[in-house]
Amino acid sequence: MSTAIRPAWSADLEERYTDILERAGDAVPCLEWAFHLPWIDAIRQLKRERGAVIMAHSYQSPEIFHGVADITGDSLALAQAAATVDHDVVVMCGVHFMAETTKILSPQRTVLIPDLDAGCSLASSITPEDVRVLRARHPGAPVVTYVNTSAAVKAESDACCTSANALQVVESMGADKVIFLPDQFLGRHVASMTQVELVLWQGRCEVHEQFTAQQVRHARERFDAQVIAHPECPPEVLDEADFVGSTTAMGAWLERERPARVALITECSMGDNLRSRFPDIEFVKPCNLCPHMKRITLPKIFDCLRDLQHPVEIDRDTSHRARTALERMLAVGRRDRV
Ligand code: 13P
Ligand code: SF4
Repeated sequence: MSTAIRPAWSADLEERYTDILERAGDAVPCLEWAFHLPWIDAIRQLKRERGAVIMAHSYQSPEIFHGVADITGDSLALAQAAATVDHDVVVMCGVHFMAETTKILSPQRTVLIPDLDAGCSLASSITPEDVRVLRARHPGAPVVTYVNTSAAVKAESDACCTSANALQVVESMGADKVIFLPDQFLGRHVASMTQVELVLWQGRCEVHEQFTAQQVRHARERFDAQVIAHPECPPEVLDEADFVGSTTAMGAWLERERPARVALITECSMGDNLRSRFPDIEFVKPCNLCPHMKRITLPKIFDCLRDLQHPVEIDRDTSHRARTALERMLAVGRRDRV
């Protein structure tokens, strides 16, 4: 909970922030704005005073995504932005591995995360020692690591990838066999599209692993909805989907296909944040909340900027080796199959 005194409501806030209210649409219940707008106003002021920039992942709550974030996007877009950002202070409204990635790519900046416990089940599924054991078991096979990992695991890797370029990074290694870590479902999805043999790990996203093929069929049959799924979902869910892609690719697909109804098989805020861009499309359930993303709140962002807490620190050697792996990914860029 924030230690700050809750900023007061004033009648002009709704008028001053009509653009935010419009962008968020009905993703935020209107009664909640009386709580959010004073925090949004206070954060925007503090952000200017600190010379800070706020980044938010597509899974971040709409009042943060639309209310205070300057840079938004999927993991790849945030990493690309991190490599070029020129503000003294960067606040990452995402999870811890995203803040680490930002710090690795922008070591001279102060990178803050509003809640240190915003983790990720994929990142906590694997240790640097696990990677070394796999390398010893598969001599010569390069290691491609999903960005949803700790800096220390990235440092043991040859290249990183995100869901937007996993296939291309794997194929860019020029090897017959690649160790692909740690998401087994993303790994199986990539393996289904390449001749490269993949050695997989047993990591899973605790949010996406919960979706079932039955839910997808229900969305299609009950609502006549098109179904688009994130590749962290189980294979039987991906088999049922009309399109599989990263969070940015989902937006691009909607732009192109313009279905009447769609089910986004991913984190719930994704649909909330896209809705106002596509007023003609009806977004139907199911979706699941990421408890880690949801640890980030407006009061915690305020505290974070006021006290410059919690700065991400990574030792030089780990940071240097992880950066090499991240830069190899950035050289491949974005190659979603849209
Ligand atoms: P993107 O790679 O599509 O951003 O999604 C990864 C994810 O699950 C972030 O938590
Ligand atoms: Fe990690 Fe899944 Fe949450 Fe993304 S949605 S941060 S992969 S637990």
